[in-house]
Amino acid sequence: MSNANADRVVIFDTTLRDGEQSPGISLGQVEKLEIAEQLARLGVDVIEAGFPIASKGDFEGVQGIAQGVSGPIICGLSRTSLADIDRCWEAIEPAERRRIHTFIATSETHMRHKLRMTPDQVKAEVASAVSRARSYTDDVEFSPEDASRSDFSFMCEVLQIAADHGATTLNIPDTVGYGVPTEYAGQLREIRERVKGDYVLSTHCHNDLGLAVANSLAGVQAGARQVECAINGIGERAGNAALEEVVMAIKTRTDHFEGLEVAINTQELQRTSRLVSRLTGYPIQYNKAVVGRNAFAHEAGIHQHGVLSERSTYEIMDPQAVGQDGSHIVLGKHSGRHAFSERLRQLGLDVRGDALHAAFTRFKELADRKLQLSDADLEAIVADEVSSGLKNAFVLEVLECHGGSVGSGTPSATVVMRVGDELRTAREEGNGMVEAACKAVKVATDMEGRLTDYTVMSVTGGVDALADVALRFESPEGIKVAGRGLSCDVVEASIRAFVSALNKVERVQASGENPYDAEADRPGRIFIS
Ligand code: KIV
Ligand code: ZN
Repeated sequence: MSNANADRVVIFDTTLRDGEQSPGISLGQVEKLEIAEQLARLGVDVIEAGFPIASKGDFEGVQGIAQGVSGPIICGLSRTSLADIDRCWEAIEPAERRRIHTFIATSETHMRHKLRMTPDQVKAEVASAVSRARSYTDDVEFSPEDASRSDFSFMCEVLQIAADHGATTLNIPDTVGYGVPTEYAGQLREIRERVKGDYVLSTHCHNDLGLAVANSLAGVQAGARQVECAINGIGERAGNAALEEVVMAIKTRTDHFEGLEVAINTQELQRTSRLVSRLTGYPIQYNKAVVGRNAFAHEAGIHQHGVLSERSTYEIMDPQAVGQDGSHIVLGKHSGRHAFSERLRQLGLDVRGDALHAAFTRFKELADRKLQLSDADLEAIVADEVSSGLKNAFVLEVLECHGGSVGSGTPSATVVMRVGDELRTAREEGNGMVEAACKAVKVATDMEGRLTDYTVMSVTGGVDALADVALRFESPEGIKVAGRGLSCDVVEASIRAFVSALNKVERVQASGENPYDAEADRPGRIFIS
């Protein structure tokens, strides 16, 4: 195994690939670029930007990141077919530093039921895929999918073939989150013993049993020097190892991970987490380690007393070290465009031209109603504008609601929606104003479907906090999307989230690609974890 960076743990971020495969997440190109730029600011070593062969949107997303983001290695995922590898290379070629990550399943169940290939065919695929990838770049990663349930000796043979054909990283996916720390670590140790060559060993752990971070860290102790992880732990099913948890464990427990280093600007963790949450529509649980709102909150009097006397009594990390240094009240309704754009710049948000104009208009509108806006509010506004700045089929022009209070009659809502060049008005009634307004939006846009999930949060604390609504929506043909909306008013935030979801459905329909088409699970089609 390579000892070139023996003390350095490479942070391989797969938020935009495995994370983007989470149900309901469907990021546009601008949103992917925004996240990739923030990941570069965070200092990740590798960005897995997507799966170029999966769709035109995926290809363009990866290519856009390869063209626009500097710093990290830009990696594309690819199955072992030569057409996949060629397409992957085409997408990542513009990047300064690029990696092809190719994979094929090695477990009995995947080979038989999904690939319909014999073990010998799988071995031949690996040899040809890695060779093809090496003809493009000397940075090639190979993964035996479903490694933790594969026949160990066979998987080692496959890994040896990959190493012999030039793979420089060997990644061991616990695809279905089946592994436990001691077992996974044992497998990695054994692989290091058995598989000869100059490669970096890597972990990729899913969280089905809540063990993704523990397994990844056990892997590091067993010699892995790359961890594949995602912001907020998003990913297929229960998700991937959470990047912020892996990084802070290595940095906090230096006694345990002696001499090991990660090159992450940890002060950017909180902001990255918020951005990913906003753009994916996946809320962050309040008690989420490191980045959750309560991660540094002390409720019990005895704890508060302890922390006030000496922070280390109940805090093992400094909140400032992860960017959790409270929300500063920064701007209000009298702040001008200059102060606004200057503060965004200080926050590391590079917003210009039309996007700046749109964000400033939104800021003014909210500041008029809320008076003062914190950094977290500003980030939320900008993230909201990034999404709504996309080419949207539907734009909410007017929302007027009545009722909702006790004794005021049946709630109703009237909306005016811009649909292309047309303004359409609809009025509907409902059990509450949110329901009435959603119905009216559906009528005005001619869109069908149902809300499957609905959450209201606040961006900061306090009665004047901005309402932040996350919801999920499913169209009759089974397209599942997430929507997110922000406003001083809960009903308005809900409808903004609803309209953003409808716009996503429309985009998926227009592209002709339905990522949730049950057909996609057919053998031979794209089906990965
Ligand atoms: O979980 C998995 O096996 C994957 C591979 C493609 C690395 O995501
Ligand atoms: Zn995965």
